Amino acid sequence: MAAKRSALRKTVSSKLRRLMREVLLTVKPSEKDIEDANFAINEIMGRLKLHIPRNVEILLAGSVARGTHLKGSSDIDIFLLYPRTVDSTAMERKSLDIAKRIVNRKKNESYVIKYAEHPYAKLILGDLNINVDVVPAYKIRDAADRGTAVDRTQLHNKFINSKLSLNQRDDVRVLKTFLKAHRIYGAEARTEGFSGYLCELLTYRYKSFEGILQGMANLKLPTVIDFSKQGRKQNDMQYVKKFGKRFIVIDPTDSNRNVAANVSEESLSRFMFASRSLLNSPTKSVFYNGRFSDAYSERKMLSIKNRLGVDIYLLHFNVPDIAQDIIWQQVKRSRTRLSEMLTENGFSMLASLQEVDGKDAIMGFLIDDVRFKTRKVTGPPVEMREAVEEFTKAHRGALLTSIDRGKIYTIEAARYRDPEELIRSFLKSKTTKLPSNLNPKKATLYVNKIPERYAKMLYIAYCRNFTI
Ligand code: CTP
Ligand code: MG
Repeated sequence: MAAKRSALRKTVSSKLRRLMREVLLTVKPSEKDIEDANFAINEIMGRLKLHIPRNVEILLAGSVARGTHLKGSSDIDIFLLYPRTVDSTAMERKSLDIAKRIVNRKKNESYVIKYAEHPYAKLILGDLNINVDVVPAYKIRDAADRGTAVDRTQLHNKFINSKLSLNQRDDVRVLKTFLKAHRIYGAEARTEGFSGYLCELLTYRYKSFEGILQGMANLKLPTVIDFSKQGRKQNDMQYVKKFGKRFIVIDPTDSNRNVAANVSEESLSRFMFASRSLLNSPTKSVFYNGRFSDAYSERKMLSIKNRLGVDIYLLHFNVPDIAQDIIWQQVKRSRTRLSEMLTENGFSMLASLQEVDGKDAIMGFLIDDVRFKTRKVTGPPVEMREAVEEFTKAHRGALLTSIDRGKIYTIEAARYRDPEELIRSFLKSKTTKLPSNLNPKKATLYVNKIPERYAKMLYIAYCRNFTI
């Protein structure tokens, strides 16, 4: 039995290795790619050197510096490291100013200012076909001296570069590709998944991509990965309390930080599920999670509607073109509120979905296609004399009144006969407090008949939700 299992494991390993080689052929940057990137790095670093004050250091960071980046999709991260004594606003202003000055319009270059925890500049180098993020930070040796959230990056660089072998760096690339295909790569609010640095740490902890799959397939929560105390478990519950999470990866450069802080339980479960699927069947189609096409989305959504016997309610908002994370969170908050109201009012919801793309934000609800003429309202137990009197008074207009299992109840006209009424009243009501960027005056409700552009957004969200 044990011999059979180990033989099976060997075939899985060899199939997986073959698959990984195939994946790497498409995602590992070629020598030419690396040459091009180095050319751009040298070019930009050279220009930066001419403009930075003498006490500022330039550092190549992020996945490009660690050899864990993906072909074509990882930006180059260049950090400007300031002494801790410089004021942070001055540092930000100075860096944006320098970035602005080194842009060469003749070479088809431009820049945008981005806001993460603090502002940085993204240079778009048209002729070189590469983007460079220029990020200001403080030069530190220890995370305790940290002044901004990104200061740790320089420490991450050192840690990863001293710990991962070249083969393991390729495993990080495979892992990132796998997580991307399953839409759980990245720590942003809309993904709540695994960041690049977390992928590197997982590879270090579990040794290889296959080791990670095994670890995730059998993961039990809570799990605490703490590199300073490998093997010892006594502090797990303390960490769970401290970080308020059940999956914790302590940053080896800063014991006060959980690198997996942004990983939602849903993303983690998806990773566990996907790892089992890939170990059961190490094929391209499982790895890439069966790509879908979003052509003819309106038609596809209609066929989903008919198959599931639901109505589709799509609420579209025109939103300002600002940080997607902010809009995403606001849509999520209102969608959750609306879902609760729909459920409280008796509507049976199969799914509630959302998507944000530029100036368009949508939420979609798939709801059983039933309509209500009446609703049942349950009151207090009959022995509570005063409460029952008050209830009867308040529900004088009821169509029927009776008693069920000791409680008084009424049947009365439904407040909302269908979800459409509820959603429209939600938009109009003065007590609804929609978040700042969701203007009810810029909202449109579509029922079943949905314009193709929004149907596409909904279909993408639907596939994201229903492919595991
Ligand atoms: N970083 C961090 N905390 C964040 C975001 C980033 O500490 N919330 C640090 C990490 O050290 C990370 C670096 O900033 O490696 C660059 O961030 P990013 O470009 O987002 O990730 P990469 O690791 O470079 O991965 P990718 O290949 O996706 O660019
Ligand atoms: Mg990067």
